[in-house]
Amino acid sequence: MKLGTLLIHNGYDTDAATGALGTPVYQTSTFDRGPDFRKDETPPPAGRMEYDYSRSGNPTRKALETAAALLEGGSSGYAFSSGIAAIAAALGIFSAGDHIITAEDIYGGSYRLLNTYFKRWKLEHTALNEVNPDTIRAAIRPNTKAVFIETPSNPLLKITDIQASCAAAREAGLISIVDNTFMTPLLQRPLEQGADIVVHSATKFLGGHSDVLAGIVVTKTRELGARIYAMQNGLGAVLGPWDCFLVSRGIKTLKVRMDAQQKTAARLAEFFARHKNVDAVYYPALADRLQKEIHERQAEGPGAVLSFKTKTVEQARNFLGRTKLAAPAVSLGGVETIASYPVKMSHAAIPAPERERLGIADSLIRISAGLEDADDLIEDFDAALR
Ligand SMILES: Cc1ncc(COP(=O)(O)O)c(C=O)c1O
Repeated sequence: MKLGTLLIHNGYDTDAATGALGTPVYQTSTFDRGPDFRKDETPPPAGRMEYDYSRSGNPTRKALETAAALLEGGSSGYAFSSGIAAIAAALGIFSAGDHIITAEDIYGGSYRLLNTYFKRWKLEHTALNEVNPDTIRAAIRPNTKAVFIETPSNPLLKITDIQASCAAAREAGLISIVDNTFMTPLLQRPLEQGADIVVHSATKFLGGHSDVLAGIVVTKTRELGARIYAMQNGLGAVLGPWDCFLVSRGIKTLKVRMDAQQKTAARLAEFFARHKNVDAVYYPALADRLQKEIHERQAEGPGAVLSFKTKTVEQARNFLGRTKLAAPAVSLGGVETIASYPVKMSHAAIPAPERERLGIADSLIRISAGLEDADDLIEDFDAALR
């Protein structure tokens, strides 16, 4: 089946017990184990005995986790209470004294996690300006265990070659982790390109309506899945049944939303590129030839997120204050267009000199295209920029 069909038919399209088309919400913390609970040591039969406590497993969560694994082409999926909880679980499978390689241009919360929490836990990391087989090989130490990338990256939409990077990581016995939040499995499936673990902020396009915080991890192998499950069950940052329902519901409309939002983003990127008050536009479809080529090889579209720099900082601040249709807000991937100001929002955790060095300027704005009419957005943005 094509991905568009899998979004709807993924094993949980009809509830086996009742025939319900909507995913039932099992809003319960615990499960009646029945009179046979003493047989605990034997594998539980499917159905009633499969669940004992909702931190360890819940049928509504299972529906979402199964769908996520199927869509990403992995062996198992795990749903967390936020994207950052999912990333913390993926990085949490490593130990004190291990070393991981990341890109410099990653989500600010991932940067903060690595530089605060995991630093205290003595997980070492090297952040590369550009992740490619050569830079990976040069950064490998005897204790290196993984490579963690985000492509396109946040907020500068830099492209990393998934296949080449994962191949270099595999050669050295490293685990590859890819944050696939911006693309979703509809446009990009890193596991098929050599990655071992995919992470998502499902708060974004998977949920799709700016009404839920959620995270997903999908692993290629069952062995890695068991390590993620130990983190999920052990730390307990699980996604609640109602929120699992909301993400499962969002996934069903991912294709129509992404198709429409991507179309609008492409028009907005062209508009910004031509505007006299805009200095630069960052969008995979407008990237330099090499980056564009890599992206087109590994993804099925440029996505619905772009960034642009105005000529002056004042213009950026005015834009955020004056746009009537885009919410000046954190986050992306919802049905409403969002204009984020990375220096004060998603990347505020990065010290200013470091941000400047990375090109995350005070004049940079990130746009997540929503489902509004593109003509209305262009008119509004033109007025706000002027
Ligand atoms: C690429 C990326 N990864 C991870 C996260 C973190 O997700 P959450 O906010 O759901 O914790 C975000 C949030 O903006 C993100 O943009």
